[in-house]
Amino acid sequence: MSRRGLLTASGAGVAAGAVATAGAFLLGEPEPEPAASAAPPQAVAFHGPHQAGIATPVQDRLHFAAFDVAVSTREELVALLVSWTRAAEAMTAGRVSAADDSGEALDLPASRLTLTVGFGPTLFARAGEDRFGLAAARPPALADLPAFPGEKLDPARGGGDLAVQACADDPQVAVHAVRTLARIGLGRVSVRWSQLGYGKTSSTTPAELTPRNLMGFKDGTGNIPYDDRAALDEHVWVAAADGPAWMTGGSYLVARRIRMHLEAWDQVTRQDQEATIGRTKTEGAPLGGKGERDRFDPAALPADSHVRMAHPTANGGVRLMRRGYSFVDGSDSQGRIDAGLFFLAYQRDPRRQFVPMQRRLATGDRLSAYIRHVGSGLWACPPGVSPGGYWGDTLLG
Ligand code: HEM
Repeated sequence: MSRRGLLTASGAGVAAGAVATAGAFLLGEPEPEPAASAAPPQAVAFHGPHQAGIATPVQDRLHFAAFDVAVSTREELVALLVSWTRAAEAMTAGRVSAADDSGEALDLPASRLTLTVGFGPTLFARAGEDRFGLAAARPPALADLPAFPGEKLDPARGGGDLAVQACADDPQVAVHAVRTLARIGLGRVSVRWSQLGYGKTSSTTPAELTPRNLMGFKDGTGNIPYDDRAALDEHVWVAAADGPAWMTGGSYLVARRIRMHLEAWDQVTRQDQEATIGRTKTEGAPLGGKGERDRFDPAALPADSHVRMAHPTANGGVRLMRRGYSFVDGSDSQGRIDAGLFFLAYQRDPRRQFVPMQRRLATGDRLSAYIRHVGSGLWACPPGVSPGGYWGDTLLG
């Protein structure tokens, strides 16, 4: 039943039916697929070979949450992931997932909600303890991130056994989705940390206007477009030959909460800002060019500019699927704005992609003077779910 349907249904019979159906979702029974013709508008398909929320077009709002798992057996972990999957299937289709739904999204459409789940290093082993018999299944590519120069990581904003990335066009829909999963997991998981993002900073849809980050620059110009299948296969999706088998079709997510020193940035001339990024502010054109999409020679950009240093030519050809969001979390005790970029990047192997690129940026990028990495996380996002399946069934099934 649609959320609106539950809201407007009159008569106890209809409501009782909804209760029974919602109860079944929570018990882990597959929810019947709606007929294609009945697909609600603004819904992104949940099922498929890859999880939605990676290569699907970026929505404008984010609620990201990292959870720690409190249960101690594999069976309990599976039961949690089954109930989360059933709720996600309902919510991404704009339907209620339980009779006691908290209600704040009842009259809202699906809003292109996507829910993407990842498994952190601590799910496989924590302090040497093989909690769920998964230690041998930990992918080598899920190697703990090294320390990077200049970072000042807050342990209260890092790590997590599980990550949930909720993206939607409406912030209330994203917040409701994370809240619902936390409620379903009550006593079985606890939220370790979370982050709201209010505006996308990285486009994956070149046909649309490129969004701007809080430094005022267009962000996402050089990103991998969501429909560039060859680039996705090369840089984002884990291939069968990469191993382990359960990750085929999945991807690795690196999250970094990057604080921007906007007061300092605002004191800098536009010319200096452009030399720092390597692109013009208004057009987003490579320096020396006119248009945002102009072809350019990265070697012609300032040697320490961000685009030159992050460009594939400076990084052995590797690229990332960036999917970050701007955040503003009020101000700090000194009255400075607590704002920046919540950097989210999907990739096939962080050891070859994010890690060497960030090492280079942390030492040589002129942008480093205006930013600080203060939160961090790494997760293995399993492949997509088939109807009747559940998040992580290739690992746990
Ligand atoms: C607050 C921090 C950051 C800001 C403000 C920022 C901003 C930008 C901007 C304005 C561009 C040019 C437009 C575009 O192509 O998207 C860009 C490009 C790029 N950035 Fe960042 N960025 C940040 C952090 C990072 C980090 C941490 C990484 C990776 C470790 C990264 C990787 C890239 C890549 C790969 C490109 C595309 C380069 C190309 O192929 O032309 N960025 N960034």
